[in-house]
Amino acid sequence: MLLGHAYPSVVRAVQEQATCGTGLSINHPLEIEAAELLAEIVPCAEMVRFCKGGGEAGMVAIRIARAASGRDKVVFCGYHGWHDWYLAANLASEATLEKHLLPGISSRGVPKTLEGTALPFEFNSLDSLKQVLEAHRGEVACVIMEAARTDTPEPGFLEGVRQLTQDQGVVLIFDEVVTGFRMARGGAQQYFGVTPDMATFAKCISNGFALGAVAGRRDVMEVPVDSFISSVYWAEATGLAAGRATLKEYLAQNICASVRQFGEAFVAGCKKHIAECGVPARIVGLPAFPALSFQEPSLERLDAVVTLYLQETAKRGLFGGPGHFFCLQHSQADLDRALEMIGEALIVIRKALDDGDIGKFLECPIRQSGFRRLV
Ligand SMILES: Cc1ncc(COP(=O)(O)O)c(C=O)c1O
Repeated sequence: MLLGHAYPSVVRAVQEQATCGTGLSINHPLEIEAAELLAEIVPCAEMVRFCKGGGEAGMVAIRIARAASGRDKVVFCGYHGWHDWYLAANLASEATLEKHLLPGISSRGVPKTLEGTALPFEFNSLDSLKQVLEAHRGEVACVIMEAARTDTPEPGFLEGVRQLTQDQGVVLIFDEVVTGFRMARGGAQQYFGVTPDMATFAKCISNGFALGAVAGRRDVMEVPVDSFISSVYWAEATGLAAGRATLKEYLAQNICASVRQFGEAFVAGCKKHIAECGVPARIVGLPAFPALSFQEPSLERLDAVVTLYLQETAKRGLFGGPGHFFCLQHSQADLDRALEMIGEALIVIRKALDDGDIGKFLECPIRQSGFRRLV
């Protein structure tokens, strides 16, 4: 959430809409107004389709890309939701999604006929993308990826992805569910100056209310109008009211600059603590969403150290993972207090590392990896 919890103008918009009706049988003008705002903000947005979440937006985008290209295969990098098109990647080998989501995901329940339709590539490796596109030349509908997250793109990487996809008539989709509005008002595509054919949005788009969106080039987006992509709650009006109010705030205020400054100060403070404590860790990612990355020789030790970090920061009142996201309502006092808590947590980690028995310092079970806790 970029504006912070219960942001007044968004709450007001939702309350007002709730008193007017929420489930309507034809398009509410809100849908058009929110779409127009998104088109004003996002470079690739000539047409918009709203839905209710990030994974759902990805699924809509994949269907559109398959329709527009007349091809089936999806080349992906990173996490994009729970749907069949994505988990199909693990049909051939359960290790496929290990680097993109988490280890050991079963593809039970996903039709076996989808095997070979979701193909991974490596972030920051044009060679790995080239290889997969070459091996499946003429069969790939789209490439879907985040333009940045924990990894920042190396110079020329995103431009190379754009060129390769364009050359082969492959639709390029940026998943902006996390990057959207946060790095630059117009998303990662504006920040890096690389425009995809389509992009998906959720989360920050409506500051905590249920809304997702697919935005893209008209000639791609309008291909499946004779098909059927629809769901009754996509037009549910409180989500759209929250979306319109949130997008208006993004146009009215330079939120990205505030969040970036906050992130930069946070990164500098964390680096200082890391150096002072001599803990093997570094800060990764852009200041818009920096993460502490602990360097441990085994996954077992890493899980123990991260759990200790979560325990020690939570005990002091800081809730979050080693990844940190900032919002407009964070204050200098919040920043100072957060850095103090992180500094104290790192001192405990230093002690545990010196002791050699990290388990002795843990008062809770070891964390579950990645998204496992959610399923
Ligand atoms: C990059 C990215 N894409 C897609 C999703 C899925 O969104 P949702 O959980 O709203 O379906 C997420 C959720 O965390 C995400 O981080």
